[in-house]
Amino acid sequence: MFDVEKIRADFPILKRKINGHELVYLDSGATSQKPESVLRAMDDFYRNNNANIHRGVYDLSVESTKMVDEVREKVAKFIGGRAEEIIFTRNASESLNLVMYSWGKKNIKEGDVILVTRLEHHSNFVPWQVLCKEKGASFRVVEVDSEGRIDGSSLKRLTEDGKVKLFALTGASNAIGTLVDIKKMVELVKKNNPRVVVVLDASQMVPHMSMDVNKLPVDFVAFSGHKMLGPTGTGVLWGKKEVLLNMEPFMYGGDMISEVGLTETTWADLPNKFEAGTPDIAGIIGLGAAVDYLTNLGMGEVRTHEKELVEYALEKFKLLEDEDLVTVYGVKKSEERGGAIAFNVKGVHSHDVAQVLNNFGICVRSGQHCAAPLVTSFNVMSMVRATFYVYNTKSEIDYLVEKIKEVPKVFI
Ligand SMILES: Cc1ncc(COP(=O)(O)O)c(C=O)c1O
Repeated sequence: MFDVEKIRADFPILKRKINGHELVYLDSGATSQKPESVLRAMDDFYRNNNANIHRGVYDLSVESTKMVDEVREKVAKFIGGRAEEIIFTRNASESLNLVMYSWGKKNIKEGDVILVTRLEHHSNFVPWQVLCKEKGASFRVVEVDSEGRIDGSSLKRLTEDGKVKLFALTGASNAIGTLVDIKKMVELVKKNNPRVVVVLDASQMVPHMSMDVNKLPVDFVAFSGHKMLGPTGTGVLWGKKEVLLNMEPFMYGGDMISEVGLTETTWADLPNKFEAGTPDIAGIIGLGAAVDYLTNLGMGEVRTHEKELVEYALEKFKLLEDEDLVTVYGVKKSEERGGAIAFNVKGVHSHDVAQVLNNFGICVRSGQHCAAPLVTSFNVMSMVRATFYVYNTKSEIDYLVEKIKEVPKVFI
C-alpha cells in the first residue's frame, strides 16, 4: 500500500518550517528530497568504509569497490540494463555531454543531421547544437503542437531526406510534463533513417515510472540520481554495449586505463573506460539506497500516485482558469502528463508568483526551466512550475491553489 504519510516521515526536511509555514516542496523536477535511508547510507559509508575504489588490496578498499559494484548492478536491474553498460556521471548533463564528446565527435560529419525536439531541456539541446556548428552538420528541431506534444508532421518533414544520424529526445518534458510516445517517435524517424542513433533523456522518467531499456528503441539513456531521491553529484548514462565498445573515452586519467606506456595507452574495459578519476563514491552508495527505496515503493505505485496528483491539480487549476486567474500550459490528459504543472498567474511575473508562494512555505520553480525554446513557444518569457513526487499530497495542492489566489492581491 502506498502510504504517503509513512513516506513523508522518511524525509527529515519535510519537518522544516519556511517563513513560519510547513514546507510544501513542489520542485522535485529540479531535485528531489532525500529519505533518511539515503542520508544514512552515505553517512555510514564515510564512518565505516571510506577508501578509494579499485586502488587497494586492503579490506576497506575492497569493501568500497564491492559497494560501488553492487550499486551498478542495482541501477542496471532498475532500468533493465547490464552492469557493464551503466556509467556513473555527475548528473544527466554530464551523461549527455559524454555521448556528445565520445560518440558525437567521432561519428558526426559535415552534412549529417542531428534531430532534437522543442521539448528538450537545454542539456539535451545545447550540446547537439554546438556539435553541429563544429562539424558543419545540420541541427533540426521538431516542433510541438499547441499543447506541447511532439508534432508528428514536423518530425516526418524533418526526417524525409534520410540524413538524420542522431535523434536526441526527452521521455518527459521537465517544463510542462508532456510524456512522449518514444517508440512511435523513434519509429517515425527510423522510417527514412534506419541507422539513426537514439539518445533518450530520461531525467524525468526514471525517477517517476518503471522503465526497461530493452523495450525501448534507444542506444543511450541519460538520467540524474539527484532527481530520484539520490544525492546531488550523481548521474547515470546507460549505453548499448556494442555502441559503447566503439566509443573513445570521455576523459583521460586514472582508473580508465588498461596499460600505460611512454607513447601509447590502452583503455580499461566497460564501464571503467568512461569513468576517469575518483567518482563520488559516497554519492553512488546513496544512489543505491535511493534505488532500494523506490524499488520498495514500486515504480508502478509511484506513477499511479503522481498521476492522481496531477489529475487532481489539473481539476483544481481548471477552476482557477475559469476564474480567469491563471493560464495552464501543456496537455490536458493525465495519461499523457508526468507529475508537473506549468502555469502563469495572469498579469504577474513568474518570479513574483514564486516569491509570494515562498512566503507561505511553498517551493515552486519559476523562469524558463532550462527549456527556453519550449517555454517561449507558448508566447511567454517564463512560467511557474510545480512538480510532484512520492511525498506530495492532494492537500498540498489545495494549499497551493489557495495561496495562488492570494498572488493577485499583492500585485494587482
Ligand atoms: C529533462 C531534463 N534533462 C536534463 C536535466 C539536467 O539534469 P542535471 O541538472 O542533473 O544535469 C534536467 C534537470 O532538470 C531535466 O529535467
